[in-house]
Amino acid sequence: MARSLQAERNTKRHDSAAIDRTVAFANGKGGVGKTTTAANVAGYAAIAGAKVLVIDLDPQGDLSRDLGYESASGQGLFNALVTGTTAPVLKDIRENLDVIPGGQALEDIQGLMFSRSTRADAGDFGDMLHRSIEPLAEDYDLIIIDTPPGERTLVEGAFAIATAVVIPTKSDEASIDGVERVARRFMAVRERNPNLQLAGVVLFGVGPRSLRLERSVRETLEEMLGTVAPVFATRIRSLESASADARKKGLLFHELEGAVTQAQKDRLKALRAGIKPSDGFFSRNAGGLAEEFEALTGEILSRLNEIESDDNQ
Ligand SMILES: Nc1ncnc2c1ncn2[C@@H]1O[C@H](COP(=O)(O)OP(=O)(O)OP(=O)(O)O)[C@@H](O)[C@H]1O
Ligand SMILES: [Mg+2]
Repeated sequence: MARSLQAERNTKRHDSAAIDRTVAFANGKGGVGKTTTAANVAGYAAIAGAKVLVIDLDPQGDLSRDLGYESASGQGLFNALVTGTTAPVLKDIRENLDVIPGGQALEDIQGLMFSRSTRADAGDFGDMLHRSIEPLAEDYDLIIIDTPPGERTLVEGAFAIATAVVIPTKSDEASIDGVERVARRFMAVRERNPNLQLAGVVLFGVGPRSLRLERSVRETLEEMLGTVAPVFATRIRSLESASADARKKGLLFHELEGAVTQAQKDRLKALRAGIKPSDGFFSRNAGGLAEEFEALTGEILSRLNEIESDDNQ
Protein backbone atom coordinates (compact mmCIF):
# COMPACT_ATOMS: atom_id res chain seq x y z
CA MET A 1 0.00 0.00 0.00
CA ALA A 2 2.75 2.39 1.01
CA ARG A 3 4.47 1.49 -2.21
CA SER A 4 1.50 2.27 -4.42
CA LEU A 5 0.96 5.60 -2.70
CA GLN A 6 4.58 6.40 -3.35
CA ALA A 7 4.16 5.37 -6.98
CA GLU A 8 1.11 7.58 -7.30
CA ARG A 9 3.01 10.52 -5.89
CA ASN A 10 5.76 9.94 -8.41
CA THR A 11 3.42 9.72 -11.37
CA LYS A 12 1.93 13.03 -10.32
CA ARG A 13 5.27 14.73 -10.19
CA HIS A 14 6.45 13.06 -13.38
CA ASP A 15 4.21 11.88 -16.16
CA SER A 16 6.34 8.76 -16.47
CA ALA A 17 6.88 5.48 -14.69
CA ALA A 18 9.06 2.43 -15.20
CA ILE A 19 8.55 0.50 -18.44
CA ASP A 20 8.12 -3.25 -17.83
CA ARG A 21 11.03 -5.57 -18.69
CA THR A 22 13.47 -2.69 -19.25
CA VAL A 23 17.05 -3.28 -18.14
CA ALA A 24 19.78 -0.63 -17.98
CA PHE A 25 23.42 -1.72 -18.15
CA ALA A 26 25.45 0.79 -16.16
CA ASN A 27 28.67 1.48 -14.30
CA GLY A 28 30.17 4.90 -13.55
CA LYS A 29 33.51 3.57 -14.79
CA GLY A 30 34.35 3.37 -18.49
CA GLY A 31 35.47 0.25 -20.35
CA VAL A 32 34.03 -2.34 -17.97
CA GLY A 33 31.95 -4.26 -20.52
CA LYS A 34 28.61 -2.43 -20.46
CA THR A 35 28.19 -2.35 -24.23
CA THR A 36 29.64 -5.82 -24.90
CA THR A 37 27.40 -7.36 -22.26
CA ALA A 38 24.29 -5.43 -23.34
CA ALA A 39 24.79 -6.46 -26.98
CA ASN A 40 25.52 -10.14 -26.33
CA VAL A 41 22.77 -10.58 -23.74
CA ALA A 42 20.34 -8.95 -26.17
CA GLY A 43 21.57 -11.30 -28.91
CA TYR A 44 21.02 -14.41 -26.81
CA ALA A 45 17.63 -13.29 -25.53
CA ALA A 46 16.61 -12.77 -29.18
CA ILE A 47 17.85 -16.24 -30.09
CA ALA A 48 15.80 -17.60 -27.20
CA GLY A 49 12.75 -16.14 -28.93
CA ALA A 50 12.24 -12.90 -27.02
CA LYS A 51 11.48 -9.82 -29.09
CA VAL A 52 14.26 -7.45 -28.02
CA LEU A 53 14.83 -3.71 -28.40
CA VAL A 54 18.28 -2.31 -27.58
CA ILE A 55 18.56 1.42 -26.93
CA ASP A 56 21.98 3.02 -27.23
CA LEU A 57 21.98 5.99 -24.85
CA ASP A 58 25.71 6.55 -25.29
CA PRO A 59 27.08 9.45 -27.36
CA GLN A 60 30.02 7.14 -28.21
CA GLY A 61 27.58 4.94 -30.15
CA ASP A 62 29.66 1.79 -29.51
CA LEU A 63 26.67 -0.52 -29.74
CA SER A 64 26.87 -0.15 -33.52
CA ARG A 65 30.32 -1.75 -33.43
CA ASP A 66 29.22 -4.77 -31.42
CA LEU A 67 26.03 -5.33 -33.40
CA GLY A 68 27.57 -4.39 -36.74
CA TYR A 69 25.08 -1.80 -37.95
CA GLU A 70 26.21 1.44 -39.55
CA SER A 71 27.23 3.97 -36.90
CA ALA A 72 24.72 6.77 -36.45
CA SER A 73 24.72 10.37 -35.32
CA GLY A 74 22.08 9.81 -32.65
CA GLN A 75 20.19 12.72 -34.19
CA GLY A 76 17.03 10.67 -34.76
CA LEU A 77 16.76 9.76 -31.10
CA PHE A 78 17.73 13.29 -30.03
CA ASN A 79 15.02 14.87 -32.21
CA ALA A 80 12.40 12.45 -30.94
CA LEU A 81 13.34 13.26 -27.34
CA VAL A 82 13.18 16.99 -27.92
CA THR A 83 9.89 16.94 -29.82
CA GLY A 84 8.25 14.36 -27.57
CA THR A 85 7.69 11.92 -30.41
CA THR A 86 8.36 8.17 -30.63
CA ALA A 87 12.01 7.27 -31.18
CA PRO A 88 12.97 5.91 -34.63
CA VAL A 89 13.77 2.19 -34.59
CA LEU A 90 16.25 0.31 -36.78
CA LYS A 91 14.39 -2.91 -37.41
CA ASP A 92 15.71 -6.46 -37.73
CA ILE A 93 19.37 -5.93 -36.90
CA ARG A 94 19.11 -9.64 -36.09
CA GLU A 95 16.07 -11.89 -36.01
CA ASN A 96 13.91 -10.63 -33.10
CA LEU A 97 16.31 -7.76 -32.42
CA ASP A 98 15.72 -4.06 -33.13
CA VAL A 99 17.83 -1.06 -32.16
CA ILE A 100 17.47 2.62 -31.38
CA PRO A 101 20.90 3.96 -32.32
CA GLY A 102 22.77 6.46 -30.17
CA GLY A 103 25.59 8.77 -31.17
CA GLN A 104 27.18 12.14 -30.78
CA ALA A 105 23.97 14.17 -30.84
CA LEU A 106 23.19 12.79 -27.38
CA GLU A 107 26.05 14.88 -26.00
CA ASP A 108 23.72 17.87 -26.22
CA ILE A 109 21.15 16.39 -23.83
CA GLN A 110 22.95 17.49 -20.69
CA GLY A 111 23.12 21.13 -21.83
CA LEU A 112 19.54 21.03 -23.07
CA MET A 113 18.26 19.79 -19.73
CA PHE A 114 20.25 22.46 -17.95
CA SER A 115 18.69 25.22 -20.05
CA ARG A 116 15.23 23.75 -19.47
CA SER A 117 15.71 23.33 -15.74
CA THR A 118 14.22 26.73 -14.97
CA ARG A 119 10.91 25.82 -16.65
CA ALA A 120 8.45 24.53 -14.08
CA ASP A 121 6.50 22.44 -16.61
CA ALA A 122 9.50 20.93 -18.35
CA GLY A 123 9.78 17.53 -16.60
CA ASP A 124 13.11 15.78 -16.44
CA PHE A 125 15.04 13.65 -18.92
CA GLY A 126 13.32 10.51 -17.59
CA ASP A 127 9.98 12.01 -18.67
CA MET A 128 11.34 12.79 -22.14
CA LEU A 129 12.76 9.31 -22.54
CA HIS A 130 9.53 7.76 -21.35
CA ARG A 131 7.52 9.71 -23.92
CA SER A 132 9.78 8.55 -26.77
CA ILE A 133 10.11 4.90 -25.72
CA GLU A 134 6.89 3.91 -23.99
CA PRO A 135 4.74 3.78 -27.17
CA LEU A 136 7.14 1.10 -28.50
CA ALA A 137 7.15 -1.05 -25.39
CA GLU A 138 4.18 -3.25 -26.23
CA ASP A 139 6.07 -4.63 -29.25
CA TYR A 140 8.88 -6.06 -27.11
CA ASP A 141 9.46 -8.70 -24.45
CA LEU A 142 12.70 -7.11 -23.34
CA ILE A 143 14.20 -3.61 -23.63
CA ILE A 144 17.92 -3.23 -22.97
CA ILE A 145 19.54 0.17 -22.47
CA ASP A 146 23.28 0.69 -22.89
CA THR A 147 24.41 3.71 -20.89
CA PRO A 148 27.55 5.89 -21.07
CA PRO A 149 30.19 5.87 -18.33
CA GLY A 150 29.65 9.54 -17.39
CA GLU A 151 26.80 11.79 -18.52
CA ARG A 152 24.76 11.68 -15.36
CA THR A 153 21.59 12.95 -17.01
CA LEU A 154 21.54 10.11 -19.53
CA VAL A 155 22.23 7.42 -16.93
CA GLU A 156 19.60 8.76 -14.55
CA GLY A 157 17.14 8.97 -17.44
CA ALA A 158 17.72 5.27 -18.12
CA PHE A 159 17.20 4.53 -14.42
CA ALA A 160 13.99 6.54 -14.42
CA ILE A 161 12.33 4.27 -16.99
CA ALA A 162 14.01 0.92 -16.19
CA THR A 163 12.76 -1.86 -13.94
CA ALA A 164 16.22 -3.33 -13.42
CA VAL A 165 19.90 -2.41 -13.50
CA VAL A 166 22.73 -4.77 -14.40
CA ILE A 167 26.19 -3.57 -13.39
CA PRO A 168 29.16 -5.04 -15.25
CA THR A 169 32.52 -4.52 -13.56
CA LYS A 170 36.14 -5.44 -14.01
CA SER A 171 38.10 -6.64 -11.00
CA ASP A 172 40.26 -3.55 -10.44
CA GLU A 173 39.56 -1.13 -7.61
CA ALA A 174 38.49 1.77 -9.82
CA SER A 175 35.81 -0.39 -11.47
CA ILE A 176 34.57 -1.62 -8.10
CA ASP A 177 34.37 2.02 -6.94
CA GLY A 178 32.29 2.53 -10.07
CA VAL A 179 29.89 -0.17 -8.85
CA GLU A 180 29.52 1.68 -5.58
CA ARG A 181 28.82 4.93 -7.41
CA VAL A 182 26.12 3.31 -9.56
CA ALA A 183 24.62 1.69 -6.49
CA ARG A 184 24.44 5.12 -4.82
CA ARG A 185 22.93 6.76 -7.89
CA PHE A 186 20.51 3.86 -8.05
CA MET A 187 19.34 4.54 -4.48
CA ALA A 188 18.85 8.24 -5.29
CA VAL A 189 16.75 7.45 -8.35
CA ARG A 190 14.53 4.99 -6.51
CA GLU A 191 12.53 7.82 -5.04
CA ARG A 192 11.80 8.88 -8.59
CA ASN A 193 11.22 5.32 -9.83
CA PRO A 194 10.25 2.96 -6.98
CA ASN A 195 9.96 0.03 -9.41
CA LEU A 196 13.69 0.05 -10.11
CA GLN A 197 15.57 -3.01 -8.82
CA LEU A 198 19.21 -3.96 -8.85
CA ALA A 199 19.33 -7.16 -10.92
CA GLY A 200 22.96 -7.98 -10.19
CA VAL A 201 26.64 -7.46 -10.91
CA VAL A 202 28.54 -9.16 -13.75
CA LEU A 203 32.25 -9.84 -13.33
CA PHE A 204 33.72 -8.93 -16.70
CA GLY A 205 37.17 -9.36 -18.25
CA VAL A 206 38.45 -11.72 -15.56
CA GLY A 207 41.91 -13.15 -16.26
CA PRO A 208 41.70 -16.88 -17.04
CA ARG A 209 44.31 -17.69 -14.42
CA SER A 210 43.19 -15.28 -11.68
CA LEU A 211 41.03 -17.58 -9.62
CA ARG A 212 42.10 -16.18 -6.26
CA LEU A 213 41.59 -12.61 -7.42
CA GLU A 214 38.19 -13.51 -8.82
CA ARG A 215 37.15 -15.09 -5.52
CA SER A 216 38.33 -12.10 -3.52
CA VAL A 217 36.57 -9.58 -5.82
CA ARG A 218 33.41 -11.66 -5.67
CA GLU A 219 33.52 -11.56 -1.86
CA THR A 220 34.07 -7.78 -1.80
CA LEU A 221 31.13 -7.24 -4.15
CA GLU A 222 28.86 -9.65 -2.29
CA GLU A 223 29.62 -7.84 0.94
CA MET A 224 28.86 -4.52 -0.73
CA LEU A 225 25.55 -5.74 -2.17
CA GLY A 226 24.37 -7.65 0.89
CA THR A 227 20.98 -9.17 0.20
CA VAL A 228 20.03 -6.50 -2.35
CA ALA A 229 21.30 -8.34 -5.43
CA PRO A 230 23.55 -11.20 -6.47
CA VAL A 231 26.90 -11.23 -8.21
CA PHE A 232 26.01 -13.45 -11.17
CA ALA A 233 27.72 -16.85 -11.05
CA THR A 234 28.78 -16.58 -14.69
CA ARG A 235 31.76 -14.33 -15.23
CA ILE A 236 33.06 -13.17 -18.58
CA ARG A 237 36.68 -14.04 -19.14
CA SER A 238 39.20 -11.66 -20.61
CA LEU A 239 39.99 -12.56 -24.21
CA GLU A 240 41.40 -9.64 -26.09
CA SER A 241 41.86 -11.20 -29.52
CA ALA A 242 38.33 -12.60 -29.71
CA SER A 243 36.79 -9.38 -28.45
CA ALA A 244 38.82 -7.27 -30.88
CA ASP A 245 37.60 -9.50 -33.73
CA ALA A 246 34.00 -9.38 -32.55
CA ARG A 247 33.99 -5.59 -32.42
CA LYS A 248 35.92 -5.12 -35.65
CA LYS A 249 33.55 -7.38 -37.57
CA GLY A 250 30.35 -6.38 -35.77
CA LEU A 251 29.72 -9.93 -34.62
CA LEU A 252 28.29 -11.26 -31.38
CA PHE A 253 30.43 -13.98 -29.80
CA HIS A 254 28.25 -16.88 -30.90
CA GLU A 255 28.49 -15.55 -34.47
CA LEU A 256 32.26 -15.16 -34.22
CA GLU A 257 32.66 -18.93 -33.72
CA GLY A 258 31.23 -19.73 -37.14
CA ALA A 259 32.88 -16.77 -38.87
CA VAL A 260 36.37 -17.74 -37.66
CA THR A 261 35.97 -21.32 -38.87
CA GLN A 262 34.74 -20.10 -42.25
CA ALA A 263 37.62 -17.59 -42.50
CA GLN A 264 40.14 -20.38 -41.84
CA LYS A 265 38.61 -22.45 -44.63
CA ASP A 266 38.66 -19.46 -47.00
CA ARG A 267 42.25 -18.73 -46.10
CA LEU A 268 43.38 -22.24 -46.89
CA LYS A 269 41.47 -22.17 -50.14
CA ALA A 270 43.10 -18.86 -51.12
CA LEU A 271 46.57 -20.14 -50.23
CA ARG A 272 46.01 -23.29 -52.28
CA ALA A 273 44.88 -21.17 -55.22
CA GLY A 274 47.93 -18.93 -54.85
CA ILE A 275 45.80 -15.84 -54.03
CA LYS A 276 46.66 -13.47 -51.19
CA PRO A 277 44.28 -14.34 -48.35
CA SER A 278 42.01 -11.52 -47.24
CA ASP A 279 42.21 -9.82 -43.88
CA GLY A 280 41.64 -12.53 -41.29
CA PHE A 281 40.84 -12.79 -37.61
CA PHE A 282 43.16 -12.42 -34.63
CA SER A 283 41.45 -15.25 -32.79
CA ARG A 284 41.14 -18.96 -33.59
CA ASN A 285 37.78 -19.19 -31.85
CA ALA A 286 35.61 -17.25 -29.44
CA GLY A 287 37.26 -19.20 -26.61
CA GLY A 288 34.15 -20.03 -24.61
CA LEU A 289 32.81 -16.45 -24.56
CA ALA A 290 29.70 -17.53 -26.48
CA GLU A 291 28.88 -20.13 -23.83
CA GLU A 292 29.58 -17.64 -21.04
CA PHE A 293 27.20 -15.07 -22.52
CA GLU A 294 24.58 -17.73 -23.08
CA ALA A 295 24.77 -18.76 -19.42
CA LEU A 296 24.81 -15.13 -18.25
CA THR A 297 21.73 -14.34 -20.34
CA GLY A 298 19.94 -17.26 -18.69
CA GLU A 299 20.86 -15.93 -15.25
CA ILE A 300 19.79 -12.38 -16.05
CA LEU A 301 16.46 -13.46 -17.55
CA SER A 302 15.60 -15.65 -14.58
CA ARG A 303 16.56 -12.83 -12.20
CA LEU A 304 14.21 -10.51 -14.14
CA ASN A 305 11.41 -13.04 -13.72
CA GLU A 306 12.14 -13.20 -10.01
CA ILE A 307 12.08 -9.40 -9.72
CA GLU A 308 8.80 -9.21 -11.61
CA SER A 309 7.10 -11.85 -9.56
CA ASP A 310 8.24 -10.09 -6.34
CA ASP A 311 6.84 -6.89 -7.76
CA ASN A 312 3.45 -8.42 -8.44
CA GLN A 313 3.03 -9.73 -4.93
N1 LIG B 1 35.98 -10.77 -23.01
C1 LIG B 1 36.70 -9.66 -23.20
N2 LIG B 1 37.99 -9.61 -22.80
C2 LIG B 1 38.74 -8.50 -22.97
N3 LIG B 1 38.29 -7.37 -23.56
C3 LIG B 1 37.02 -7.36 -23.97
C4 LIG B 1 36.15 -8.49 -23.82
N4 LIG B 1 34.95 -8.18 -24.35
C5 LIG B 1 35.05 -6.94 -24.81
N5 LIG B 1 36.28 -6.42 -24.59
C6 LIG B 1 36.80 -5.10 -24.98
O1 LIG B 1 36.87 -4.29 -23.81
C7 LIG B 1 36.64 -2.92 -24.15
C8 LIG B 1 35.58 -2.33 -23.24
O2 LIG B 1 34.35 -3.01 -23.45
P1 LIG B 1 32.97 -2.21 -23.62
O3 LIG B 1 33.06 -1.22 -24.72
O4 LIG B 1 31.91 -3.23 -23.68
O5 LIG B 1 32.94 -1.46 -22.22
P2 LIG B 1 31.98 -0.23 -21.80
O6 LIG B 1 31.84 -0.32 -20.33
O7 LIG B 1 30.78 -0.22 -22.63
O8 LIG B 1 32.89 1.03 -22.19
P3 LIG B 1 32.43 2.59 -22.21
O9 LIG B 1 32.41 3.01 -20.76
O10 LIG B 1 33.47 3.28 -23.01
O11 LIG B 1 31.07 2.64 -22.82
C9 LIG B 1 36.26 -2.92 -25.62
O12 LIG B 1 37.38 -2.57 -26.38
C10 LIG B 1 35.86 -4.35 -25.89
O13 LIG B 1 36.04 -4.74 -27.23
MG1 LIG C 1 29.95 1.31 -23.77
